[in-house]
Amino acid sequence: MTVPSLVFSQEAGAVPALGFGTSPLTGGLSSETVIAALKAGYRHIDTARKYGTEPAVGEAMRASGVPRQDIFLTTKVSHENLRAADFARSVDESLAALKVDYVDLLLVHWPNPAIALTETMPALAKAKRQGLARHIGVANFNIGLLDQAVDLCPEPLVALQAEYHPYLDQSKLMAAVRRHKLVFIAYCPLGRGRLFSDPVLAEIAAKRGRSIAQVALRWLMQQDVAAIPFSSQPQRIADNFNVFDFALDDDEMKRIAVLKRPDGRVANPAGRVPSGWD
Ligand SMILES: NC(=O)c1ccc[n+]([C@@H]2O[C@H](COP(=O)([O-])OP(=O)(O)OC[C@H]3O[C@@H](n4cnc5c(N)ncnc54)[C@H](OP(=O)(O)O)[C@@H]3O)[C@@H](O)[C@H]2O)c1
Repeated sequence: MTVPSLVFSQEAGAVPALGFGTSPLTGGLSSETVIAALKAGYRHIDTARKYGTEPAVGEAMRASGVPRQDIFLTTKVSHENLRAADFARSVDESLAALKVDYVDLLLVHWPNPAIALTETMPALAKAKRQGLARHIGVANFNIGLLDQAVDLCPEPLVALQAEYHPYLDQSKLMAAVRRHKLVFIAYCPLGRGRLFSDPVLAEIAAKRGRSIAQVALRWLMQQDVAAIPFSSQPQRIADNFNVFDFALDDDEMKRIAVLKRPDGRVANPAGRVPSGWD
């Protein structure tokens, strides 16, 4: 069985299934790290205004020699900038920091209970209509917020970015994403490192002659989910991309699905999603 390295959306067309995250857990991000990802084959790069990594990402894109149109570039507007004027300013700042004319995907980074979606969604749609973003979407929205965002946005959303890995059950959110015909983009796809001592993943990895990271990423790919792992290590960056030449069987897929645990969520800043996760 081969799984294509693309995830398809009716609205966005093909999205590269494996992207490179650019939010380092500690320290900054050098453009060399992003260049290593582009050299390894990644054509989907995930940044955000909040990460402070847009300059390094833009520099790497220019230095790599990979044509701009071959890269699916995502950035995000932070929760404190969701009022219309702040939103427009944040998008302009992102494009200036990246030194690009447009991004491929512009996301609302987190919801903000103090700012109505009736203000934010038209601001997001406006960035698309102005040609500053080819596609738009949201991140860290629960099902209720996602339903509202789809209803209120004058332009179609194409993606939801949310935490997803074997320790976190996202079946309810996934059903909503499918209902709205969006692409699910999994962040922290390696559980921010928590998966690496898991005995079931280790056993499957050993049997397949693969790393735990490859097994975890492959599990997402086989659900038609895009994923954006980060690593600061060139060898791991390349290793993580090497998931398109093997397949997990049904039994392995199920064994990994039952690893979900109630305390599996990694990213959960207080107060951002007051109506709770699904
Ligand atoms: N939308 C949002 O709110 C949101 C929130 C969080 C993250 N994100 C995005 O998602 C991206 C990924 O999330 P993340 O970086 O938090 O977590 P992650 O990708 O699940 O895990 C990254 C960690 O795993 C380690 N690692 C990576 N590959 C490895 C391998 N093959 N073997 C051993 N260790 C490995 C890395 O350490 P080394 O560097 O030492 O390899 C790093 O500590 C971020 O960079 C960001 O772009 C978005």
